[in-house]
Amino acid sequence: MNDNPCTQIRHDFPIFEVSVDDQPLCYLDSAATTQKPNQVIQAVKDFYQSQNANVHRGLHTLSEQATTAYEAVRRKLAQFLNVQSREIVWTSGATASLNLIAYGLSDSLKKDDVILLSPLEHHANIVPWQLAAKRTGARIELLPVDAQGILQLEQAKALIENLKPKVMSICHASNALGNINDVAALIASSKSSGTVTVIDGAQSLLHLRPDLQQLDCDFYVFSAHKALGPTGLGGLYGRYELLNALPVYQSGGEMIDTVSFSGTTFRPAPEKFEPGTPNIAGVIGFGAALDYLAAQDHDALFQHEQSLYQSLLQQLSGIDGIRIWGDTANNVGTVSFNYKNEHHYDLATLLNTHGIAVRSGHHCTQPLMAHLGIEGTIRASLAFYNNQQDISRFIAALKDTISLLEE
Ligand SMILES: Cc1ncc(COP(=O)(O)O)c(C=O)c1O
Repeated sequence: MNDNPCTQIRHDFPIFEVSVDDQPLCYLDSAATTQKPNQVIQAVKDFYQSQNANVHRGLHTLSEQATTAYEAVRRKLAQFLNVQSREIVWTSGATASLNLIAYGLSDSLKKDDVILLSPLEHHANIVPWQLAAKRTGARIELLPVDAQGILQLEQAKALIENLKPKVMSICHASNALGNINDVAALIASSKSSGTVTVIDGAQSLLHLRPDLQQLDCDFYVFSAHKALGPTGLGGLYGRYELLNALPVYQSGGEMIDTVSFSGTTFRPAPEKFEPGTPNIAGVIGFGAALDYLAAQDHDALFQHEQSLYQSLLQQLSGIDGIRIWGDTANNVGTVSFNYKNEHHYDLATLLNTHGIAVRSGHHCTQPLMAHLGIEGTIRASLAFYNNQQDISRFIAALKDTISLLEE
């Protein structure tokens, strides 16, 4: 895919018409949140303007229409992921989904059971498991990652066979480094041990569009805002028998079957995990994001991202003193780097004066930063709406920043 279809796509994203500090926006922070196409913005606006009603509760027309539209998105996402719609639970994001799963699986964990994570995980895929371990006496073990931040697959498979973990929860792609982990191979290795496998798909839904039946994981979590959708929405897939067996996490209206002061009964999954009024507008907006993605040629978009990534890598590597982290051969298009001993915060602040939006810091992966022996990095993360001009502007701004720092 050359830059022409990308130019077309960029017109769908009104943020690129906005000036930030009097400069055109160069947005390289899609791992934090993606920009939204007009279609998503319009769908949210239309909902509030002409369809707004609560779901599942009313017999009146608007409520029925809202319920139909809301449930249609569940089916759409299920189709997108190649699973059943009753296996999709809406939450407020990947963080909420991981908390729900870690809390729910605590019931089946006991002292000395192994919860297997990796040093690459976002805090959202560490802390809920630490709490689960504390509640149950289970212990956390880590998959091997080398000094560059790359998961060591063969050693990891051997470790899985040796430890026979009760739960393995790992990211499909690292938010800090962009590495794509071979989660299918890890899941396959854990099958003979009956391990419950949880995949943090926050960074993979948009770039990799996984087929979850093929992946064969038990749970998969995501955030809608990292895949063109609105903030405050995410969800999880759970293999139905496992999902339905999880205990209630949060309770209230909508998720119940009957309530009396002598006891309450709950509805089956997914409803039993969706108490209260959901993020209806968010779901409708995400439905528009899924339609948008379905209408694109995924392979072409992926190739476009990858060629921008290669160009970015090549130009960065040509700058003396740049240290790039992570697996550059298998990557969703996120470059994490340092420049000599300069503080990442100073670089990002100076880049911002050029209109460049990148992230600096530990990226909610403090254990990974400790493993790499650094405090943080500068992270430039791409999406298919980026173009070659973004890369050129970023490199020029970086060179300018470096010469300022070297003065
Ligand atoms: C890999 C990964 N997991 C989990 C999360 C948490 O997502 P959210 O903040 O949308 O709940 C993020 C967010 O950056 C992430 O990148």
